[in-house]
Amino acid sequence: MDISAPHGSKTTRIGHMFEDADQETLARILAWRDKPAKHQPAWPNTEELEATLSYLSTLPPLVFAGESDQLKEKMAAAGRGEAFVLMGGDCAETFADCRADRIRARVRTVLQMAVVLTYGASVPVVKIGRMAGQFAKPRSSATETYGGTTLTSYMGDAVNGHEFTEEARTPDPRRLVEAYQHSASTLNLIRAFTTGGFADLTKVHEWNKGFMANPAYARYEALAGQIDRAMRFMKAAGVSDESFRTVDFYSSHEALILPYEEAMTRIDSRTGTPYNTSAHLLWIGERTRELDGAHVEMLSHVRNPIGVKLGPTTTAQEVRALIDKLNPMGEPGRLTLIARMGASRVCEVLPTLVEAVKADGRPVTWVTDPMHGNTITASNGLKTRRLEDILAEIRGFFAVHREAGTYPAGIHIELTGDDVTEVLGGSEEIVEDTLGERYMTLVDPRLNHQQSLEMAFLVAEELQQHLA
Ligand code: PEP
Ligand code: CO
Repeated sequence: MDISAPHGSKTTRIGHMFEDADQETLARILAWRDKPAKHQPAWPNTEELEATLSYLSTLPPLVFAGESDQLKEKMAAAGRGEAFVLMGGDCAETFADCRADRIRARVRTVLQMAVVLTYGASVPVVKIGRMAGQFAKPRSSATETYGGTTLTSYMGDAVNGHEFTEEARTPDPRRLVEAYQHSASTLNLIRAFTTGGFADLTKVHEWNKGFMANPAYARYEALAGQIDRAMRFMKAAGVSDESFRTVDFYSSHEALILPYEEAMTRIDSRTGTPYNTSAHLLWIGERTRELDGAHVEMLSHVRNPIGVKLGPTTTAQEVRALIDKLNPMGEPGRLTLIARMGASRVCEVLPTLVEAVKADGRPVTWVTDPMHGNTITASNGLKTRRLEDILAEIRGFFAVHREAGTYPAGIHIELTGDDVTEVLGGSEEIVEDTLGERYMTLVDPRLNHQQSLEMAFLVAEELQQHLA
Protein backbone atom coordinates (compact mmCIF):
# COMPACT_ATOMS: atom_id res chain seq x y z
CA MET A 1 0.00 0.00 0.00
CA ASP A 2 1.32 3.44 -0.81
CA ILE A 3 0.64 5.18 2.45
CA SER A 4 2.43 8.35 1.48
CA ALA A 5 -0.12 9.57 -1.06
CA PRO A 6 -3.43 7.75 -0.65
CA HIS A 7 -6.50 8.61 -2.65
CA GLY A 8 -4.37 10.76 -4.96
CA SER A 9 -4.94 13.89 -2.92
CA LYS A 10 -3.79 16.94 -4.87
CA THR A 11 -4.64 19.57 -2.30
CA THR A 12 -1.66 21.54 -1.04
CA ARG A 13 -0.52 21.06 2.50
CA ILE A 14 -1.45 24.51 3.72
CA GLY A 15 -4.80 24.57 1.99
CA HIS A 16 -5.83 21.30 3.55
CA MET A 17 -4.96 22.00 7.08
CA PHE A 18 -6.00 25.44 7.86
CA GLU A 19 -9.02 26.25 5.77
CA ASP A 20 -10.64 27.69 8.91
CA ALA A 21 -7.67 29.87 9.85
CA ASP A 22 -7.52 33.58 9.18
CA GLN A 23 -4.37 34.97 7.52
CA GLU A 24 -2.83 36.14 10.76
CA THR A 25 -3.26 32.78 12.50
CA LEU A 26 -1.91 31.00 9.45
CA ALA A 27 1.18 33.21 9.41
CA ARG A 28 1.81 32.37 13.06
CA ILE A 29 1.44 28.63 12.52
CA LEU A 30 3.90 28.72 9.63
CA ALA A 31 6.36 31.22 11.16
CA TRP A 32 8.75 28.44 12.26
CA ARG A 33 9.55 27.75 8.60
CA ASP A 34 11.60 30.97 8.42
CA LYS A 35 13.72 30.07 11.43
CA PRO A 36 16.71 27.74 11.68
CA ALA A 37 15.58 24.25 12.67
CA LYS A 38 18.15 21.96 14.24
CA HIS A 39 18.00 18.16 14.28
CA GLN A 40 15.83 17.79 11.19
CA PRO A 41 16.33 14.71 8.99
CA ALA A 42 17.74 15.15 5.48
CA TRP A 43 14.73 13.67 3.69
CA PRO A 44 15.95 12.40 0.33
CA ASN A 45 12.70 12.99 -1.52
CA THR A 46 10.89 16.23 -0.76
CA GLU A 47 7.97 15.48 -3.07
CA GLU A 48 7.22 12.31 -1.18
CA LEU A 49 7.59 14.19 2.09
CA GLU A 50 5.11 16.86 0.97
CA ALA A 51 2.57 14.24 -0.14
CA THR A 52 2.92 12.45 3.19
CA LEU A 53 2.46 15.65 5.18
CA SER A 54 -0.54 16.54 3.08
CA TYR A 55 -2.06 13.17 3.94
CA LEU A 56 -1.20 13.49 7.65
CA SER A 57 -2.88 16.85 7.75
CA THR A 58 -6.19 15.25 6.74
CA LEU A 59 -6.10 12.60 9.47
CA PRO A 60 -8.12 12.96 12.66
CA PRO A 61 -6.43 14.65 15.60
CA LEU A 62 -4.94 12.23 18.15
CA VAL A 63 -6.10 14.32 21.08
CA PHE A 64 -8.88 16.82 21.56
CA ALA A 65 -7.98 20.44 22.32
CA GLY A 66 -10.34 20.42 25.33
CA GLU A 67 -8.24 17.68 26.91
CA SER A 68 -5.09 19.78 26.49
CA ASP A 69 -6.90 22.63 28.24
CA GLN A 70 -7.78 20.29 31.12
CA LEU A 71 -4.16 19.23 31.39
CA LYS A 72 -3.11 22.88 31.37
CA GLU A 73 -5.33 23.48 34.39
CA LYS A 74 -3.79 20.52 36.16
CA MET A 75 -0.27 21.71 35.35
CA ALA A 76 -1.28 25.08 36.80
CA ALA A 77 -2.49 23.38 39.99
CA ALA A 78 0.83 21.52 40.20
CA GLY A 79 2.68 24.82 39.74
CA ARG A 80 0.77 26.20 42.73
CA GLY A 81 1.64 23.19 44.90
CA GLU A 82 -1.81 21.59 44.72
CA ALA A 83 -0.78 18.54 42.67
CA PHE A 84 2.33 16.67 41.53
CA VAL A 85 3.24 15.79 37.94
CA LEU A 86 4.50 12.34 37.03
CA MET A 87 5.75 12.14 33.43
CA GLY A 88 7.32 8.88 32.36
CA GLY A 89 7.97 6.52 29.51
CA ASP A 90 10.56 5.37 27.05
CA CYS A 91 13.42 7.50 25.86
CA ALA A 92 12.39 6.43 22.37
CA GLU A 93 9.28 4.37 21.68
CA THR A 94 9.69 1.88 18.85
CA PHE A 95 7.19 0.43 16.39
CA ALA A 96 8.29 -3.09 17.41
CA ASP A 97 7.42 -2.40 21.05
CA CYS A 98 3.97 -1.08 20.21
CA ARG A 99 2.47 -4.22 21.77
CA ALA A 100 -0.27 -4.62 24.33
CA ASP A 101 1.96 -6.26 26.95
CA ARG A 102 4.65 -3.59 26.71
CA ILE A 103 2.21 -0.70 26.75
CA ARG A 104 0.33 -2.24 29.67
CA ALA A 105 3.58 -2.68 31.61
CA ARG A 106 4.51 0.97 31.18
CA VAL A 107 1.04 2.26 32.03
CA ARG A 108 0.96 -0.01 35.07
CA THR A 109 4.36 1.26 36.25
CA VAL A 110 3.22 4.87 36.00
CA LEU A 111 -0.04 4.01 37.82
CA GLN A 112 1.85 2.20 40.59
CA MET A 113 4.22 5.14 41.02
CA ALA A 114 1.24 7.47 41.08
CA VAL A 115 -0.44 5.41 43.80
CA VAL A 116 2.73 5.51 45.91
CA LEU A 117 2.86 9.29 45.49
CA THR A 118 -0.83 9.93 46.01
CA TYR A 119 -1.05 7.75 49.10
CA GLY A 120 2.40 8.60 50.44
CA ALA A 121 2.15 12.37 50.08
CA SER A 122 -1.63 12.90 49.88
CA VAL A 123 -1.48 14.97 46.72
CA PRO A 124 -3.31 14.42 43.43
CA VAL A 125 -0.90 13.13 40.79
CA VAL A 126 -1.09 14.35 37.19
CA LYS A 127 -0.19 11.31 35.08
CA ILE A 128 1.50 11.90 31.73
CA GLY A 129 3.09 9.23 29.53
CA ARG A 130 6.16 9.92 27.39
CA MET A 131 4.09 7.72 25.15
CA ALA A 132 1.99 7.59 21.99
CA GLY A 133 4.31 9.81 19.96
CA GLN A 134 7.86 9.71 21.41
CA PHE A 135 9.27 8.35 18.15
CA ALA A 136 11.91 10.93 17.20
CA LYS A 137 15.28 11.67 18.78
CA PRO A 138 17.87 14.42 18.53
CA ARG A 139 21.35 12.87 18.36
CA SER A 140 24.67 14.26 19.47
CA SER A 141 26.16 13.35 16.11
CA ALA A 142 24.31 13.40 12.77
CA THR A 143 26.28 10.41 11.52
CA GLU A 144 27.70 7.22 12.93
CA THR A 145 30.76 5.31 11.68
CA TYR A 146 31.35 1.57 12.08
CA GLY A 147 34.04 -0.43 10.37
CA GLY A 148 34.80 2.37 7.93
CA THR A 149 31.16 2.94 6.94
CA THR A 150 29.47 6.23 7.81
CA LEU A 151 25.67 6.41 7.91
CA THR A 152 23.00 8.76 9.24
CA SER A 153 22.50 8.24 12.99
CA TYR A 154 19.31 6.55 14.13
CA MET A 155 16.83 9.39 14.74
CA GLY A 156 13.91 7.37 16.05
CA ASP A 157 11.41 5.12 14.30
CA ALA A 158 9.50 8.13 12.96
CA VAL A 159 12.51 8.93 10.77
CA ASN A 160 14.68 5.87 10.05
CA GLY A 161 15.46 2.32 11.15
CA HIS A 162 17.98 1.35 13.82
CA GLU A 163 19.70 -1.33 11.76
CA PHE A 164 23.12 -0.22 10.52
CA THR A 165 22.44 -0.40 6.79
CA GLU A 166 22.14 2.38 4.28
CA GLU A 167 18.58 1.39 3.47
CA ALA A 168 17.40 1.40 7.09
CA ARG A 169 19.19 4.61 8.00
CA THR A 170 17.86 6.65 5.08
CA PRO A 171 15.07 8.93 6.37
CA ASP A 172 11.74 7.72 4.99
CA PRO A 173 8.66 9.99 5.20
CA ARG A 174 6.31 7.00 5.23
CA ARG A 175 7.58 6.42 8.74
CA LEU A 176 5.81 9.63 9.81
CA VAL A 177 2.49 8.04 8.89
CA GLU A 178 3.50 4.89 10.73
CA ALA A 179 4.41 7.03 13.75
CA TYR A 180 0.93 8.55 13.61
CA GLN A 181 -0.67 5.11 13.38
CA HIS A 182 1.38 3.66 16.24
CA SER A 183 0.61 6.74 18.31
CA ALA A 184 -3.10 6.28 17.62
CA SER A 185 -3.16 2.63 18.60
CA THR A 186 -1.03 3.22 21.69
CA LEU A 187 -3.29 6.05 22.80
CA ASN A 188 -6.36 3.95 22.15
CA LEU A 189 -5.06 1.20 24.42
CA ILE A 190 -4.00 3.69 27.10
CA ARG A 191 -7.50 5.17 27.06
CA ALA A 192 -9.00 1.68 27.31
CA PHE A 193 -6.75 0.69 30.22
CA THR A 194 -7.26 3.88 32.18
CA THR A 195 -11.02 4.13 31.81
CA GLY A 196 -12.03 0.51 31.30
CA GLY A 197 -11.32 -0.99 34.73
CA PHE A 198 -7.57 -1.70 34.63
CA ALA A 199 -6.82 1.40 36.72
CA ASP A 200 -9.43 0.57 39.38
CA LEU A 201 -7.89 1.34 42.78
CA THR A 202 -9.30 -1.88 44.19
CA LYS A 203 -6.79 -3.64 41.92
CA VAL A 204 -3.59 -2.10 43.34
CA HIS A 205 -2.43 -5.53 44.50
CA GLU A 206 -2.87 -7.12 41.11
CA TRP A 207 -0.63 -4.59 39.40
CA ASN A 208 2.38 -6.15 41.08
CA LYS A 209 1.61 -9.78 40.24
CA GLY A 210 4.29 -11.66 38.37
CA PHE A 211 7.20 -9.69 39.77
CA MET A 212 9.63 -11.47 42.05
CA ALA A 213 10.03 -10.65 45.72
CA ASN A 214 12.39 -7.83 46.60
CA PRO A 215 12.48 -4.94 49.11
CA ALA A 216 10.80 -2.38 46.84
CA TYR A 217 7.95 -4.82 46.19
CA ALA A 218 7.51 -5.69 49.86
CA ARG A 219 7.10 -2.00 50.51
CA TYR A 220 4.62 -1.65 47.66
CA GLU A 221 2.63 -4.65 48.92
CA ALA A 222 2.39 -3.09 52.37
CA LEU A 223 1.15 0.17 50.88
CA ALA A 224 -1.33 -1.66 48.65
CA GLY A 225 -2.65 -3.41 51.80
CA GLN A 226 -3.29 -0.05 53.43
CA ILE A 227 -5.06 1.25 50.33
CA ASP A 228 -7.20 -1.89 50.27
CA ARG A 229 -8.28 -1.30 53.84
CA ALA A 230 -9.06 2.34 53.09
CA MET A 231 -11.10 1.31 50.06
CA ARG A 232 -13.08 -1.27 52.07
CA PHE A 233 -13.72 1.34 54.73
CA MET A 234 -15.03 3.82 52.16
CA LYS A 235 -17.22 1.18 50.58
CA ALA A 236 -18.65 0.24 53.97
CA ALA A 237 -19.24 3.91 54.71
CA GLY A 238 -21.17 4.25 51.45
CA VAL A 239 -18.58 6.30 49.53
CA SER A 240 -18.46 5.30 45.92
CA ASP A 241 -16.68 7.52 43.51
CA GLU A 242 -16.00 7.06 39.83
CA SER A 243 -12.56 8.59 40.38
CA PHE A 244 -11.45 5.39 42.16
CA ARG A 245 -12.13 3.39 39.02
CA THR A 246 -10.72 5.53 36.22
CA VAL A 247 -7.76 7.87 35.84
CA ASP A 248 -6.88 10.71 33.51
CA PHE A 249 -3.72 9.83 31.63
CA TYR A 250 -2.19 12.30 29.21
CA SER A 251 0.31 11.91 26.37
CA SER A 252 3.46 13.90 25.67
CA HIS A 253 6.55 13.83 23.49
CA GLU A 254 9.41 16.02 22.34
CA ALA A 255 8.22 18.21 19.46
CA LEU A 256 11.22 17.55 17.25
CA ILE A 257 10.26 16.81 13.65
CA LEU A 258 8.61 20.09 12.84
CA PRO A 259 6.86 19.25 9.55
CA TYR A 260 5.09 16.38 11.35
CA GLU A 261 4.12 18.64 14.25
CA GLU A 262 2.85 21.25 11.80
CA ALA A 263 0.77 18.65 9.97
CA MET A 264 -0.80 17.66 13.30
CA THR A 265 -1.72 21.24 14.15
CA ARG A 266 -5.42 22.04 13.89
CA ILE A 267 -7.64 25.03 14.46
CA ASP A 268 -9.84 24.28 17.45
CA SER A 269 -13.43 24.88 16.43
CA ARG A 270 -14.42 26.02 19.93
CA THR A 271 -11.90 28.83 20.15
CA GLY A 272 -10.58 29.38 16.62
CA THR A 273 -7.03 28.97 17.94
CA PRO A 274 -4.32 26.48 16.92
CA TYR A 275 -3.51 23.37 18.97
CA ASN A 276 -0.95 20.70 18.31
CA THR A 277 -3.12 17.59 18.32
CA SER A 278 -0.32 14.99 18.23
CA ALA A 279 -0.16 14.98 22.06
CA HIS A 280 -1.63 16.80 25.02
CA LEU A 281 1.71 18.27 26.05
CA LEU A 282 4.76 18.89 23.85
CA TRP A 283 8.20 19.79 25.04
CA ILE A 284 11.25 21.42 23.49
CA GLY A 285 14.50 19.52 24.05
CA GLU A 286 17.74 20.86 25.50
CA ARG A 287 19.33 20.82 22.04
CA THR A 288 16.60 22.81 20.29
CA ARG A 289 15.61 25.47 22.78
CA GLU A 290 17.31 28.47 21.12
CA LEU A 291 15.15 31.53 21.42
CA ASP A 292 15.35 32.28 17.71
CA GLY A 293 15.06 28.69 16.62
CA ALA A 294 12.18 27.02 14.82
CA HIS A 295 11.15 24.77 17.71
CA VAL A 296 10.55 27.60 20.16
CA GLU A 297 8.81 29.55 17.40
CA MET A 298 6.40 26.71 16.61
CA LEU A 299 5.38 25.95 20.17
CA SER A 300 4.97 29.65 20.95
CA HIS A 301 1.93 29.66 18.64
CA VAL A 302 -0.04 26.61 19.80
CA ARG A 303 -2.28 26.67 22.86
CA ASN A 304 -1.21 23.37 24.45
CA PRO A 305 0.59 23.18 27.76
CA ILE A 306 4.27 22.99 26.81
CA GLY A 307 7.60 22.18 28.41
CA VAL A 308 11.21 23.21 27.87
CA LYS A 309 14.21 21.20 29.02
CA LEU A 310 16.87 23.23 30.79
CA GLY A 311 20.42 21.88 31.01
CA PRO A 312 23.24 23.02 33.30
CA THR A 313 24.45 25.81 30.99
CA THR A 314 21.09 27.63 31.04
CA THR A 315 21.28 31.25 32.19
CA ALA A 316 18.67 33.25 34.10
CA GLN A 317 18.47 35.60 31.13
CA GLU A 318 17.64 32.71 28.80
CA VAL A 319 14.89 31.52 31.10
CA ARG A 320 13.33 34.98 31.28
CA ALA A 321 13.52 35.26 27.49
CA LEU A 322 11.88 31.84 27.12
CA ILE A 323 9.03 32.95 29.39
CA ASP A 324 8.67 36.17 27.33
CA LYS A 325 8.43 34.13 24.15
CA LEU A 326 6.44 31.10 25.32
CA ASN A 327 4.20 32.51 28.01
CA PRO A 328 4.23 36.31 27.74
CA MET A 329 0.88 36.74 29.49
CA GLY A 330 1.80 34.43 32.35
CA GLU A 331 -1.00 31.95 31.76
CA PRO A 332 -0.92 29.40 34.61
CA GLY A 333 -0.09 25.85 33.50
CA ARG A 334 1.09 26.92 30.07
CA LEU A 335 4.82 26.57 30.69
CA THR A 336 6.65 23.76 32.44
CA LEU A 337 10.39 24.11 32.99
CA ILE A 338 12.07 20.71 33.07
CA ALA A 339 15.46 21.01 34.78
CA ARG A 340 18.03 18.32 33.86
CA MET A 341 21.18 19.54 35.50
CA GLY A 342 22.94 16.40 36.71
CA ALA A 343 23.28 15.38 40.35
CA SER A 344 26.58 17.19 40.76
CA ARG A 345 25.34 20.50 39.30
CA VAL A 346 21.73 20.85 40.39
CA CYS A 347 22.36 22.62 43.71
CA GLU A 348 24.83 25.00 42.10
CA VAL A 349 22.94 25.90 38.91
CA LEU A 350 19.24 25.64 39.68
CA PRO A 351 18.91 28.20 42.52
CA THR A 352 19.74 31.15 40.25
CA LEU A 353 17.14 30.06 37.72
CA VAL A 354 14.46 29.42 40.35
CA GLU A 355 15.14 32.84 41.89
CA ALA A 356 14.98 34.55 38.50
CA VAL A 357 11.61 32.94 37.76
CA LYS A 358 10.34 33.83 41.21
CA ALA A 359 11.37 37.46 40.70
CA ASP A 360 9.75 37.51 37.26
CA GLY A 361 6.46 36.56 38.87
CA ARG A 362 4.84 34.80 35.91
CA PRO A 363 3.90 31.27 36.98
CA VAL A 364 5.82 28.23 35.77
CA THR A 365 5.55 24.58 36.74
CA TRP A 366 8.98 23.29 37.83
CA VAL A 367 9.70 19.65 37.00
CA THR A 368 12.93 17.67 37.42
CA ASP A 369 14.30 15.33 34.76
CA PRO A 370 16.92 13.48 36.82
CA MET A 371 17.92 11.25 33.90
CA HIS A 372 19.57 13.28 31.15
CA GLY A 373 22.19 15.07 33.24
CA ASN A 374 23.39 11.77 34.69
CA THR A 375 24.24 9.66 31.66
CA ILE A 376 27.62 7.91 31.79
CA THR A 377 29.44 5.26 29.77
CA ALA A 378 30.16 2.00 31.60
CA SER A 379 33.55 0.34 31.21
CA ASN A 380 31.99 -2.12 28.74
CA GLY A 381 30.94 0.81 26.54
CA LEU A 382 27.20 0.72 27.39
CA LYS A 383 25.43 4.01 28.01
CA THR A 384 24.04 3.90 31.54
CA ARG A 385 23.06 5.92 34.62
CA ARG A 386 23.43 5.27 38.34
CA LEU A 387 20.19 5.09 40.30
CA GLU A 388 21.96 6.83 43.19
CA ASP A 389 22.82 9.82 40.93
CA ILE A 390 19.23 9.97 39.69
CA LEU A 391 17.91 9.96 43.26
CA ALA A 392 20.55 12.51 44.30
CA GLU A 393 19.39 14.91 41.60
CA ILE A 394 15.79 14.55 42.79
CA ARG A 395 16.86 15.31 46.38
CA GLY A 396 18.83 18.31 45.11
CA PHE A 397 15.82 19.57 43.15
CA PHE A 398 13.62 19.38 46.24
CA ALA A 399 16.30 21.04 48.40
CA VAL A 400 16.64 23.97 45.99
CA HIS A 401 12.90 24.57 46.03
CA ARG A 402 12.71 24.22 49.80
CA GLU A 403 15.38 26.90 50.11
CA ALA A 404 13.66 29.21 47.62
CA GLY A 405 10.18 28.70 49.04
CA THR A 406 8.95 27.49 45.65
CA TYR A 407 7.21 24.25 44.75
CA PRO A 408 8.90 21.22 43.16
CA ALA A 409 5.96 20.30 40.96
CA GLY A 410 6.94 17.02 39.36
CA ILE A 411 9.33 14.49 37.85
CA HIS A 412 10.05 13.53 34.26
CA ILE A 413 11.68 10.13 33.89
CA GLU A 414 12.64 7.42 31.42
CA LEU A 415 11.23 4.08 32.44
CA THR A 416 9.96 0.84 31.11
CA GLY A 417 7.56 -1.53 32.81
CA ASP A 418 9.84 -4.45 32.09
CA ASP A 419 12.66 -6.07 33.96
CA VAL A 420 15.54 -4.56 31.96
CA THR A 421 19.13 -4.03 33.16
CA GLU A 422 20.00 -0.57 31.87
CA VAL A 423 20.43 1.62 34.97
CA LEU A 424 23.03 0.69 37.62
CA GLY A 425 22.02 0.14 41.23
CA GLY A 426 18.71 -0.46 42.93
CA SER A 427 17.74 -2.85 45.68
CA GLU A 428 18.08 -5.75 43.27
CA GLU A 429 21.47 -4.47 42.40
CA ILE A 430 22.47 -4.09 38.78
CA VAL A 431 26.25 -3.77 38.40
CA GLU A 432 28.44 -3.17 35.35
CA ASP A 433 28.89 -6.89 34.81
CA THR A 434 25.15 -7.58 34.65
CA LEU A 435 24.26 -4.48 32.62
CA GLY A 436 24.42 -6.40 29.37
CA GLU A 437 21.96 -9.13 30.48
CA ARG A 438 18.74 -7.40 29.47
CA TYR A 439 19.93 -4.15 27.92
CA MET A 440 17.14 -3.44 25.44
CA THR A 441 17.02 0.31 24.86
CA LEU A 442 17.89 1.75 21.46
CA VAL A 443 18.77 5.15 22.89
CA ASP A 444 18.94 6.08 26.61
CA PRO A 445 18.96 3.69 29.61
CA ARG A 446 15.61 3.42 31.41
CA LEU A 447 14.62 2.61 34.97
CA ASN A 448 13.17 -0.87 35.20
CA HIS A 449 9.91 -1.61 36.99
CA GLN A 450 11.44 -2.13 40.41
CA GLN A 451 13.78 0.89 40.19
CA SER A 452 10.78 3.02 39.21
CA LEU A 453 8.90 1.95 42.34
CA GLU A 454 11.96 2.58 44.49
CA MET A 455 12.15 6.09 43.08
CA ALA A 456 8.44 6.68 43.74
CA PHE A 457 8.93 5.88 47.44
CA LEU A 458 11.81 8.32 47.66
CA VAL A 459 9.86 11.07 45.91
CA ALA A 460 6.85 10.45 48.16
CA GLU A 461 9.08 10.93 51.21
CA GLU A 462 10.59 14.13 49.84
CA LEU A 463 7.17 15.44 48.95
CA GLN A 464 5.76 14.59 52.35
CA GLN A 465 8.58 16.53 53.99
CA HIS A 466 8.11 19.43 51.64
CA LEU A 467 4.40 19.65 52.33
CA ALA A 468 4.78 19.13 56.10
C1 PEP B 1 15.06 13.17 26.10
O1 PEP B 1 14.17 13.58 26.87
O2 PEP B 1 15.10 12.00 25.68
C2 PEP B 1 16.14 14.09 25.71
C3 PEP B 1 16.79 13.97 24.57
O3 PEP B 1 16.36 15.01 26.65
P1 PEP B 1 17.17 16.40 26.62
O4 PEP B 1 16.55 17.23 25.55
O5 PEP B 1 16.91 16.94 27.99
O6 PEP B 1 18.60 16.07 26.39
CO1 CO C 1 16.43 10.19 26.60
